[in-house]
Amino acid sequence: MKLAVLGAQWGDEGKGKVVDLLASRFDIVARYQGGHNAGHTVYLNGTKFVLRLIPSGILHHGLTCVIGNGVVVDPQALFAEVDELARNGIDVDGRLVVSDKAHLILPYHRDLDLLAEARRGERKIGTTSRGIGPAYEDKIARRGIRVGDLASPDALEQNVRDNVIARNRLVHDSTMDWKPVFEQLLHHARRLRPWVTDVSLMLHEEMRRGKSILFEGAQGTLLDIDHGTYPYVTSSNASVGGICTGLGVGPRSIDAVLGVVKAYTTRVGEGPLPTELSDERGSRLRESGNEYGAVTGRPRRCGWYDAVAARYGVRINGLDALALTKLDVLDGLDRIEICTAYRSGGRTLTEFPSDIAQLGTCEPVYESLPGWPTPTRGARRYADLPENARRYISRLEEVTGVPAAIVSTGSERDETIVREEKLQIAEFKLQT
Ligand code: IMP
Repeated sequence: MKLAVLGAQWGDEGKGKVVDLLASRFDIVARYQGGHNAGHTVYLNGTKFVLRLIPSGILHHGLTCVIGNGVVVDPQALFAEVDELARNGIDVDGRLVVSDKAHLILPYHRDLDLLAEARRGERKIGTTSRGIGPAYEDKIARRGIRVGDLASPDALEQNVRDNVIARNRLVHDSTMDWKPVFEQLLHHARRLRPWVTDVSLMLHEEMRRGKSILFEGAQGTLLDIDHGTYPYVTSSNASVGGICTGLGVGPRSIDAVLGVVKAYTTRVGEGPLPTELSDERGSRLRESGNEYGAVTGRPRRCGWYDAVAARYGVRINGLDALALTKLDVLDGLDRIEICTAYRSGGRTLTEFPSDIAQLGTCEPVYESLPGWPTPTRGARRYADLPENARRYISRLEEVTGVPAAIVSTGSERDETIVREEKLQIAEFKLQT
């Protein structure tokens, strides 16, 4: 079985928990895009882990975790994460693999990220300031430095020198010295070396041996560089297409696609968000859902579930099923709204507009459902949910067009309802 698990909204859907929950059914978990802008939070026996680069599967002993060529790797961030895991008794050696084709984030990328945001002023994107965009810019401009380049110090020296000089020209008054950047890279190279491999080849060999793979997405479909709300997006393909390019596997390597959605909507950073609630209802969702960025601590913008956006996620990714997270955050609300369409320029839209200016004018059309006074928190069986919570889920399934195979009711691994019959509908052949 090869299953993709990816975000179908604006990121922060709870992918870390879903991947961690399913990981024990797989041999390999592979990340295909993004960098340490991601923050996958997983709670395990009361301990909170925030994984940024390393796939959430690392918390399962014996599982191999892969960082694909589509990921941009900041070696310092990677080592910090490895050290943090080691402090918690989790050893990555022999289980972590990094693609030799993955591009590196270097110190000047972080500076350029901050500079670009400052120059955009009011039109800033609200990036995570991790140097993600500038690292991908260098990749597309064919001047990036890849993990595999660390093995050839002479060529590396030349590339680092050229890149730092080019950057100094961009950043007014900057006189960054290329030598320390180069020396630090040589130092990183020694620690990275045992993990570096040809990931595409490795995955093909493992698949031939019948090994199962979970492809783990970061960010979300609406932050995808091509299909998201451009320019308010991240710089990689968070949607399903990123798997093939970001790991070097063919499309038939993906058996099924599971889209993770929150029971409401959040977004961090700038850009349109049609169902955003700027009143106390938004604050209520933020506080009950602890909606603060895992990486930057920024408060997330919150609003009702947007079925127009979710349906778009279904279309772009060919979703087979949903994993619906944070249902419990809606506990105790009197009424809950679902956005089923938009109104714009006197017209009703049922499809997500590709024109961002039009999206900015869209007013949500809501359907109102009764809430549930009894808590769903910690529920493990669908039948244990209050009737109104089940009605809410059924309606979400109808308006989104795919079944909710997993429902998460709390942050711990076992605070989850896995609806095996819905997994069957989606033709998942997960071995239990
Ligand atoms: P960047 O990826 O740091 O360039 O940021 C670009 C946009 O993507 C900003 O709006 C960020 O807030 C958003 N973003 C990046 N990573 C994540 C994530 O993991 N979750 C949610 N939003 C993200």
